Amino acid sequence: MTPSPPAHDVAAVILAAGQGTRFRSDTAKVLHRAAGRSLVAHVLEAIRPFGLGQVIVVVGHQADAVTADVQAVSMDVTTVVQAQQRGTGHAVQQAFPALKDSIRRVMVLPGDTPLLTAEALTGLFAATEEQPVAMLTMHLPDPTGYGRVLRDADGGVARIVEHKDATADERAITEANAGMYLVTRDLLGAALERLDDDNAQGELYLTDIVALLRQADHRVMPVLAAPEVVAGVNDRAQLADAASVLRRRHLEHLMRDVGVSVVDPATTYVDVDVEVGRDAVLLPGTMLESGTRIGERTVVGPNAHLTACTIGADATVHSTRGDQAEVGDGAKVGPFAHLRPGTRLGVGTKVGAYVETKNLDLAAGSKVPHLAYLGDATVGEGVNIACGVITVNYDGADKHRTTIEDGAFVGCDTMLVAPVTIGAGAYVAAGSTITHDVPADALAIARARQTNKEGWARARRQQGAGH
Ligand code: UD1
Ligand code: CA
Repeated sequence: MTPSPPAHDVAAVILAAGQGTRFRSDTAKVLHRAAGRSLVAHVLEAIRPFGLGQVIVVVGHQADAVTADVQAVSMDVTTVVQAQQRGTGHAVQQAFPALKDSIRRVMVLPGDTPLLTAEALTGLFAATEEQPVAMLTMHLPDPTGYGRVLRDADGGVARIVEHKDATADERAITEANAGMYLVTRDLLGAALERLDDDNAQGELYLTDIVALLRQADHRVMPVLAAPEVVAGVNDRAQLADAASVLRRRHLEHLMRDVGVSVVDPATTYVDVDVEVGRDAVLLPGTMLESGTRIGERTVVGPNAHLTACTIGADATVHSTRGDQAEVGDGAKVGPFAHLRPGTRLGVGTKVGAYVETKNLDLAAGSKVPHLAYLGDATVGEGVNIACGVITVNYDGADKHRTTIEDGAFVGCDTMLVAPVTIGAGAYVAAGSTITHDVPADALAIARARQTNKEGWARARRQQGAGH
């Protein structure tokens, strides 16, 4: 699938300095996300299996933000700044002096091709075993916007003409430039020196290296690739299309390779890094965002939206919003639960309808079946929290913790005014407002005493009848 041994003498240069005018965005194009990752991070993940000797990303527009994004990918990445974006050729000119001495070949990739796979690039490696230059091309029914590939009599590439510079005849060509090249270092360096900006956009086009190399009698090998893996993203409609392809690809992997049931792929949104265990079931309306892991045989949905959550095995998570929450094996969550950051639900716990949690440690077997708010709380094992319980964790200035020890029972509609501790095995009577610690095994009642006024209601009715 991928070349071995690792290609230590190859450097990747990824172009990510452009603004992406066609996105009409205040955010640099390559930072826009598709299926849980920025566009440029998808490109980095595609080259990961090759173990390249050097990876350079050319940054410019919003350089700091793009640098932070690519540094967050677990890979050794160098960035080079292209202060003014004077074209793709100019971008590679900035990167060239940063190449390590050990580099013999350079792979140039656009930063806006999130569909890219390692397989698509293996053709370039194979072609440059024999030839000094290869590039990926694709056939598109509508190649508008792409550079067109003009072939030689011998089948090599004679030159690339950009859409804006192309004649009507050239625009009729459906073979488009994917913008991915593998070139020996020496030939690239020589060609870069000879670029000019005599074209419709007044830019230094990287694509012109093809004609320059051809003129110097080097054959430029075209390697055909499928548009599904090399297409670029230039506007938000293409972004949505690419994201949908990426999600579909990941769902197919989960269904075919792992053994996950996805009842309705069309309404199931799973980011590419989300892991789901064997025999798990994803019901319609499920959205699993980056950093989420789902255990084996767990059922998620319908209508669950989880971000960076870890869900154990044999759990159910029904109609729930979760963010940075951990749910233990066999736990039952929802419908209509809201698990906020710092929620940790132990093995076999239950968090039911209309329960909101935050910074909660709920130990094994404890239950919060309905209508409660538990924030900044530590709850032991086998605790029952009845309907309507609220941890009063905020006094208007500071947050305070509530501790509920093993086996305690907290009755309905109780306010636990933190900081407060309910001891092990204690009972709290329904309707209590607890402001002091409750000792282990005690009963706490903290509510106004009930008074019954005999006959009061009848007397009122009789008075009213006189009017
Ligand atoms: C480019 C190719 C085109 C090809 C297409 C494939 C050129 C001149 N054209 O066109 O032949 O069909 O890709 O997707 O190369 N960038 C920089 N610095 C710059 C300009 C661009 O880093 O000065 C980066 C952009 O951020 C982007 C990438 O290079 O990630 C490609 O630039 P873009 O403007 O999208 O090129 P296309 O018009 O798509
Ligand atoms: Ca592009």
